Amino acid sequence: TASMFSVKQLVESGFCAKSMPSKYVFPRSDDNSVVHYIPDEAKVIPTIDFSLLTSGNPDQRSKVISDLGNACREWGFFMLINHGVSQDLMDEVIKVSEDFFDLKEEDKRDYAGKTLFDPIRWGTSFNVSVDKTLFWRDYLKIHVHPQFNAPKKPVEFSETLREYCERSRKVASELLKGISESLGLGKNYINKKMKIESGLSHQLLVINLYPPCPEPDVAMGLPPHTDHGLLTLLMQNQLCGLQVLHDSRWVPVNPLPYSFLVISGDHMEILTNGKYKSVVHRALVNNNATRISVGTGHGPSLDTIVSPVEELVNWEGDDRDCDRDRDLPAYRGIRYREYMELQQSNQL
Ligand code: SIN
Ligand code: FE2
Repeated sequence: TASMFSVKQLVESGFCAKSMPSKYVFPRSDDNSVVHYIPDEAKVIPTIDFSLLTSGNPDQRSKVISDLGNACREWGFFMLINHGVSQDLMDEVIKVSEDFFDLKEEDKRDYAGKTLFDPIRWGTSFNVSVDKTLFWRDYLKIHVHPQFNAPKKPVEFSETLREYCERSRKVASELLKGISESLGLGKNYINKKMKIESGLSHQLLVINLYPPCPEPDVAMGLPPHTDHGLLTLLMQNQLCGLQVLHDSRWVPVNPLPYSFLVISGDHMEILTNGKYKSVVHRALVNNNATRISVGTGHGPSLDTIVSPVEELVNWEGDDRDCDRDRDLPAYRGIRYREYMELQQSNQL
């Protein structure tokens, strides 16, 4: 079927130089109700200086932990600077990602997997098994931890990605320590409970490719969604497209070069009983150049049952009896693996 074509192939065939197939037209009706943010976009997005978390003095550290808490509570999203992952490595990741998508279509087809837990899966759109319209995006998804996987081609891919994934896991785990503290829990509480500390965290690498689109105003790269897992660390090839929903408005994200965009995921929301939100976000497309974004999703081990932390269920409650409802856990516990399966089949 036509949905087997990647967007890249569609563009390179020259078949849609001026317009695109109608199945890529995204119905905007639900979205029109949402006003776009006009002012100083980038400035309003919280920015966290990672170096203060790891090597700041005690005052700086407690300030950044409180900023981190506010960012998670009010946005579920922030920009992370001074994170220590080198610019060279980030450039290299973008380069090998481009090289992968530039492989011959039949080489990529080796990875045209169908199921969620295929170690390596190349595909298009958002979730073709349920998408009614197609999205202007090709992807490569790789389960990279606890078991590392990588395509054999391009040859540098594996080594570059292995290093990048390891570095980003360290950043994520430090952030989770700060977030844990911001909730009044012990520094290692989340990492311990989610089996991250014992080296079993689940990490998914997602590389998104958004080729230039002839009709960017009616197509969509990725529909509004939230990420599963605790945190996603996202970087991009300097082209904008990501928007996050904040106070019912879409805020365009214009990141500082070489920063990480940190997205709080569904399991952060579940774990914190809704104190910290998972942020709804989407990706728009443009008609000039190919945008690439690379996300690493950091979750608990696949067999962890995530439910609200008991200490947080009773967050406000000095007096349980006077506000019983507020004390109830807002989410039922669910195994991470099952959550991912439900999300994939659109049955959450
Ligand atoms: C994502 O939501 O996973 C990626 C968004 C982006 O491409 O900026
Ligand atoms: Fe996402």
